Amino acid sequence: MHLMQLQIQNFRNLTEINFEPVDGVNLITGLNASGKTSLLEAIYYLSHLRSFRTHQISDLIKHQSTELQLVAKIHTDSNNQIPLGIKRSRHKLEVRANRQPIKRVADIATLFPVLTIHPDSYKLITGSPSERRQYMDWGVFHVEHDFFGVWQRFKRALSQRNAALKSRQNDDYCSLWDKELFDMATYIDNLRSKYLSNLQSYLNNLMLEFFKDQSVEVTYKRGWNNEASLDSLLKSELNKDRLKGFTQYGPHRAELSIKVDGQSAQTGISRGQQKTLVALLRLAQAQQFTESTGRNCILLYDDLAAELDLPHRKKILKVLSKMKTQLFLTSIEIDQVDLSAWDIKKMFHVEQGKLKDLI
Ligand SMILES: Nc1ncnc2c1ncn2[C@@H]1O[C@H](COP(=O)(O)OP(=O)(O)OP(=O)(O)O)[C@@H](O)[C@H]1O
Ligand SMILES: [Mg+2]
Repeated sequence: MHLMQLQIQNFRNLTEINFEPVDGVNLITGLNASGKTSLLEAIYYLSHLRSFRTHQISDLIKHQSTELQLVAKIHTDSNNQIPLGIKRSRHKLEVRANRQPIKRVADIATLFPVLTIHPDSYKLITGSPSERRQYMDWGVFHVEHDFFGVWQRFKRALSQRNAALKSRQNDDYCSLWDKELFDMATYIDNLRSKYLSNLQSYLNNLMLEFFKDQSVEVTYKRGWNNEASLDSLLKSELNKDRLKGFTQYGPHRAELSIKVDGQSAQTGISRGQQKTLVALLRLAQAQQFTESTGRNCILLYDDLAAELDLPHRKKILKVLSKMKTQLFLTSIEIDQVDLSAWDIKKMFHVEQGKLKDLI
């Protein structure tokens, strides 16, 4: 799968752009504030219907405009070309794939899987557990087709139970959703744990290359004690849950513990090491996606040169060049990124929101 064409209208400072990338590496250069990150953000938006920089739609729509529009042509794995279009005003979203309206973000994500690495990605390590849950669930979602439906059912049961707890209903009433919660939680835990054990070998290979004198451990924590069973915890903790007004244990509290030489990666390593580690976590995920689904995802890497020193940059580029994913890189100067390992490549230049192809 790859992106063949993207027409952008009124997305941040990109007023009107026609972008025709290659199915290889695409390097987007330009000065600060020219619109490089915005271009990657538009590709990401097409897949996630949200940005990696903001939750506010008004940040994304060009100032003084009423709506943004993205129209893409996607080359699918079954060798078809399908149009994908998004129109977004402050109050309305319209998504069409292959001329049919799309109702669920899950459908567009499946059609157009995109991973990103950007200057704030280190928050995957330093941020809250929800960042790490999002990380693992991207993979579980794309590899395990049951996941989305099971997660929806879990969320419904959890919010019903939490509402009952908050309004201080009696034990029987609060426990009405326990069976559904337990069944869905067990399923989610199995899918996550299977996914992460499968991901380990990809992670280990990359870690050997980049952290060869250190031991990096990524451990899955399911959201309740390994020795306890969730159904008995739901019963025994009911009073505490009621006091707190929410369900303390379950897959909504799952976590990834990331340790380097036994120390938490949140505090025990440098920012540069955190950035490298996050890049490796994402690359492992892209590799695992390709191997397990037989499809390729798209990889966006914003500001690669500003992120990593020269030796790390060279190593990362070497790993990237061996992957089959369509790649989008940004940098300020063209010579900051060595693309000699790629056969298929194209360079672009952005200046004040206008895009030019470079030969
Ligand atoms: N909604 C908007 N409408 C118009 N312009 C916007 C909007 N949101 C952001 N901008 C502007 O778009 C410009 C491009 O921002 P962007 O982050 O894409 O730049 P960049 O090329 O990635 O820069 P850097 O090298 O500093 O990372 C900035 O000047 C920013 O102020
Ligand atoms: Mg930028």
